[in-house]
Amino acid sequence: MTCTATLDPAFVIAPVPPRLFGSFVEHMGRCVYGGVYEPGHPEADAEGLRADVIELTRELGVSAVRYPGGNFVSGYRWEDGVGPREDRPVALDLAWRSLEPNTFGLNEFMSWARQAGVEPIMAVNLGTRGVEDACNLLEYANFPAGTRYSDLRVAHGVRDPHRIRTWCLGNEMDGPWQIGRKTGTEYGRLAAETGKAMRRIDPSIELVACGSSNERMPTFGSWEADVLDEAFDVVDSISLHAYFEQHGEDRVGFLASAQVMDDFIDGVVATCDHIAAKKRSRRRLKLSFDEWNLWHESRFAGQDHLDWARAPRLIEDEYTVEDAVVLGNLLMSLLRHSDRVTIACLAQLVNVIAPIRTEPDSGAWRQTIFHPFALTARHARGEVLRVEPNSPVLHSETLGDVAAVDVTATRDAETGETTVFAVNRDESQAATLRLAMAGEEHAVVEHVVLGGRDLLATNSKAAPRGVEPRSSTRHSTDPKGLSVELPPVSWTMVRTAPVTG
Ligand code: AHR
Repeated sequence: MTCTATLDPAFVIAPVPPRLFGSFVEHMGRCVYGGVYEPGHPEADAEGLRADVIELTRELGVSAVRYPGGNFVSGYRWEDGVGPREDRPVALDLAWRSLEPNTFGLNEFMSWARQAGVEPIMAVNLGTRGVEDACNLLEYANFPAGTRYSDLRVAHGVRDPHRIRTWCLGNEMDGPWQIGRKTGTEYGRLAAETGKAMRRIDPSIELVACGSSNERMPTFGSWEADVLDEAFDVVDSISLHAYFEQHGEDRVGFLASAQVMDDFIDGVVATCDHIAAKKRSRRRLKLSFDEWNLWHESRFAGQDHLDWARAPRLIEDEYTVEDAVVLGNLLMSLLRHSDRVTIACLAQLVNVIAPIRTEPDSGAWRQTIFHPFALTARHARGEVLRVEPNSPVLHSETLGDVAAVDVTATRDAETGETTVFAVNRDESQAATLRLAMAGEEHAVVEHVVLGGRDLLATNSKAAPRGVEPRSSTRHSTDPKGLSVELPPVSWTMVRTAPVTG
């Protein structure tokens, strides 16, 4: 099987957006408590922040982190999580039916974010709360001093404002599971009014409106239109969320999850531009894909069955090599939409459907999905090239015909280095990827592969390094381009540099 494509530096989609490699820390399960924060653990610093998790977050290449939820934020009282710890109440978290000790809050998160080198993305509660509380939180976080909430922050030992740039106006407000769910029009009006008031406090902020909770929601498309009818002029972007898993026996459909992501993004772009047309506006809203990952959700009983406990073990999915192949492909979808998707957050960061796992009695380790994310975050540099692969097709029960091979590439104009990401979704045969490269002759600098074998292998506390990308030499170059062998069900990254002299 052969797939062909042309890489031409003249055909550029957009620069790689720095916040495309974001992640998400929610007060859910063991993401915060027992994840990023575990006082008393041998790896914890004086503030209780786990150094091993910070180190892996840096290695993962995470650029931004959304906080504190998620469904959690829709019932959250942010002021319970600031100030002297002994005064902070234990609260009921209605989203996950858990006990929230509030020993970790905004200031601890900001301290963690600084150490991890990530930009914070903050969500406000538009479920049980509204304009006033969002403004109070923004005043506490970003206003320099001399007012009720900014002085409260100073009194809490944080003299300088946090200067948080990006604010999400609520979370998944269309979901029947959401505390304080609203219709698109109700939510759109609240988002617009909240955003308007927040901008009066800090005109420099960026605002993200809630899109649909996923593309299978019955209101998908009309929700975005209703929200943007109200909030188009106030917000900078609209959110997308998607979690992928295999449905029934359709393994090809699962392997082609990136095609579902492509279609979802294209649908939201179309809706944003439809509203722009209705409003005679030339503004092009950006998209914030601020929750995405694989989640074997069919194994999760749902919120209603949870007992009141602190940091219960929730959705600690163990990821396989096959999952890592799919995740690498999802990143390729995000890259090729980088003209519109400028924020994306892998949900979540630690323990809860996460690339990083911890246990109280051990160090942190990398799940299989850690690897394609870390390699893409490190090597997708410069600009995303427009690539139009010519691939054989496979048949999926749910998606119909899908490409067997998918390809994306980036090019760093300064160095001329090109990074190619490719996935072979075919279960039975290897593929040859033949890339014509316009311009200079290239040599391969690095070629790594995940998959092709041991597709059900995982990493675990006992075997934390069982799955790692492996180097490959199965490529060849000539003055016109590059040929790469892609094993069955695999993700590949090839880096090339111009041949000089
Ligand atoms: O990431 C887990 C949950 O998935 C989030 O809380 C919610 O926003 C989504 O439904």
